[in-house]
Amino acid sequence: MLKEKVSIITGGASGIGYSIAKTFSEEGARVVIADVNEERLKEAAKTLGCDFFTGDLSKRQPCKALVDYTIQKYGKVDILVNVAGIQTVSSIEEFPEDKWDFMISLMLTAPFLLTKYVWSSMKSQGWGRIINLDSIHGLVASEYKAAYVSAKHGLIGLTKTAALEGGELGITVNAICPAYVRTPLVDNQIDAQAKSHGISKEEVVSKIMLQKSAIKTLIEPDAVAETAKFLCSDAASHITGAAITMDGGWTAG
Ligand SMILES: NC(=O)c1ccc[n+]([C@@H]2O[C@H](COP(=O)([O-])OP(=O)(O)OC[C@H]3O[C@@H](n4cnc5c(N)ncnc54)[C@H](O)[C@@H]3O)[C@@H](O)[C@H]2O)c1
Repeated sequence: MLKEKVSIITGGASGIGYSIAKTFSEEGARVVIADVNEERLKEAAKTLGCDFFTGDLSKRQPCKALVDYTIQKYGKVDILVNVAGIQTVSSIEEFPEDKWDFMISLMLTAPFLLTKYVWSSMKSQGWGRIINLDSIHGLVASEYKAAYVSAKHGLIGLTKTAALEGGELGITVNAICPAYVRTPLVDNQIDAQAKSHGISKEEVVSKIMLQKSAIKTLIEPDAVAETAKFLCSDAASHITGAAITMDGGWTAG
């Protein structure tokens, strides 16, 4: 299904981006993973046997260079998966202003720029798939996550707008909105919270992180990767502009 599909996956050195790169590579896609962490990126690319591009995607020039590199080398871009992101936990009163700028640049402006830069290639082929790794925090807020929640809400707006513009061009654009996914980032948070609250790791997950979820277990990154794969399939060709929740029932309540 993904055979020979040229796929850019940002944040591919770790966590969800890595799982998507692995799944897409196994399906025969030509994958370019892009990340700022050069050491982990090279290691991931070697393990997966895929291509890589190093750059800080919170800046405009590396976003442009990533797409130029891919088109020069492979002649086109079929699939763009925007995954790179970070979290900062702080009250609005104390939120570092430079962190706000960085997070909006990385998690909202970069997906916009990359969408803009891949658009003409997808348009000329009459086929394209853009997937934005959003979050349940694109749909609901939690306190102390102002920049993250704002960027992810904005990303759903971008997803819907691009979906409307891509409808007649064979380009679908969707967002995946998971609750907590088992990645190194989340594992570290669990360890830290278990220590600070003096409770077990299981209790951190069920009573703190997934308090609002009906299903009290973490999502595996491979499940997110399978959803991304489905969104690239023919069966999903009429799914566009959607914010697909993988939230264990968080927003059902
Ligand atoms: N883990 C979760 O629970 C969860 C839940 C919902 C949504 N998400 C979203 O999924 C995405 C990936 O999260 P993850 O848990 O896999 O995190 P992760 O930390 O494992 O991976 C994120 C990757 O982004 C890269 N990155 C950071 N800054 C960058 C920059 N300036 N330029 C290029 N790359 C940069 C990192 O180096 C890292 O490899 C994020 O957008 C996150 O918001 C995660």
